[in-house]
Amino acid sequence: MTAAVGRVAAALRKRALAARPGERLPSVRALTAAHGASPVTVSRALALLQEEGLIEARVGSGTFVAERPSEAAAPDLAWQHVALGAGPPSEDLVALVTEPAPGVLPLSSGYADASLQPTRALATAMARALRAPDAWARAPVAGLPELRAWFARRAGGADLQDVLLVGGGQAALRTAFQATARPGDAILMESPTYLGATAAARALGLTPVAVPCDGEGLRTDLLEEAFARSGAKVLYCQPAFSNPAGVSMSERRRAEVLDLARRNYAFIIEDDYAADLAYAGRTPPTLFSRSEGHVIYVRSLTKSVAPSMRVAALCARGPVMRQLRASRVLDDFFVARPLQAAALELVSSSAFPRHLARLQRALGERMGHLCGKVQERLHGVEILVAPEGGYSLWLRLPAGMDDVALAGRALRAGVAVSAGAPWYPTMPVPGHLRLSVAGAPVEVLDAGLERLAAVIRL
Ligand SMILES: Cc1ncc(COP(=O)(O)O)c(C=O)c1O
Repeated sequence: MTAAVGRVAAALRKRALAARPGERLPSVRALTAAHGASPVTVSRALALLQEEGLIEARVGSGTFVAERPSEAAAPDLAWQHVALGAGPPSEDLVALVTEPAPGVLPLSSGYADASLQPTRALATAMARALRAPDAWARAPVAGLPELRAWFARRAGGADLQDVLLVGGGQAALRTAFQATARPGDAILMESPTYLGATAAARALGLTPVAVPCDGEGLRTDLLEEAFARSGAKVLYCQPAFSNPAGVSMSERRRAEVLDLARRNYAFIIEDDYAADLAYAGRTPPTLFSRSEGHVIYVRSLTKSVAPSMRVAALCARGPVMRQLRASRVLDDFFVARPLQAAALELVSSSAFPRHLARLQRALGERMGHLCGKVQERLHGVEILVAPEGGYSLWLRLPAGMDDVALAGRALRAGVAVSAGAPWYPTMPVPGHLRLSVAGAPVEVLDAGLERLAAVIRL
């Protein structure tokens, strides 16, 4: 569908929904003039609406607004509530992934906006990928070897057989959890943490156990106790620029976390989602590069390229790789070959390092600007950590302010922000808010913050 067809269809849809059933629509010629579109465009838009059941063409008489199925005729689906029982596991994650409505300023986005995506380089990469004679053939379950080799180098010390490609970081986390834990098992998680990880763990029947963080990352004094009490064999963490807290684990804590995993015969799932989002361009060596088989490393291209570049790697050593492969194949067999091939073209191109440098610089500028504005405009709101990478800014609200209610009011005022509560894997610590610089250039951040300031003042 072209943009022009979409535009005319949207206008006609609005008109049809507002009109009474049976009302006649103007002729194609009149619509052509009214919408400044060609007759072909108007006919295609009308065909679209006909497919949607909104209008009907009567031969020889014209096009009419269709009868709408009456409420009484709608099937009774109430039985589904009984059959489904407990309800969906996490609607917070659906909300997080859904784009805000037009006009709502996105200060909660998990992905870089179009201005920060390498759109031209991606188009070139995809065009090249599609020219290969085997472009649409199946791909190896583990992924294209050259792309796996690229991820292996990024993980630090992985061999080719240690790398498995999956369709994005979320799929990687789910696969890693499923491969390392059984329903009913405990899984240790930083608190606060990425709510998609908590949702995936819960959906697999695992029991999240929260391990609080401070400015140095995971509290290792509490981690020891958490391993001992829960019997967990898996720890999920984000050592670099964690989402939502923006914290990076100190060198001392990294060493302690690795040591505790070793002593407890446990896996660490290292979610390096922000590996390419360090404002100064450098992140510390991965936990994976310092471990003998305890770390399952996750790295995705969605955050540094574009949300639909749904390619991520799981890197692991030892028998766990068989488990990961067996779990991965249950989901979708392999990542679509054109996407893998385009990813490989992109990351091997000279445009890629240039893109990353630009992205990192822009995110750093946005974050610096946002921190300044928060201090200037949001009185009583505290910045807990000034992040050096990633998308998120984690804030403490003035005492007694309800984060969930505030996020709801902000949305009604036209700015999307994330309430803190869903980011806690177990009991929420009230009064936190997550802002993101990913989807908002500086002028959008400014406008969004003005709306938020007005809501906080109410
Ligand atoms: C910390 C973290 N890990 C993983 C993901 C999943 O990202 P994707 O599936 O788009 O690669 C996200 C997305 O927001 C995230 O914030």
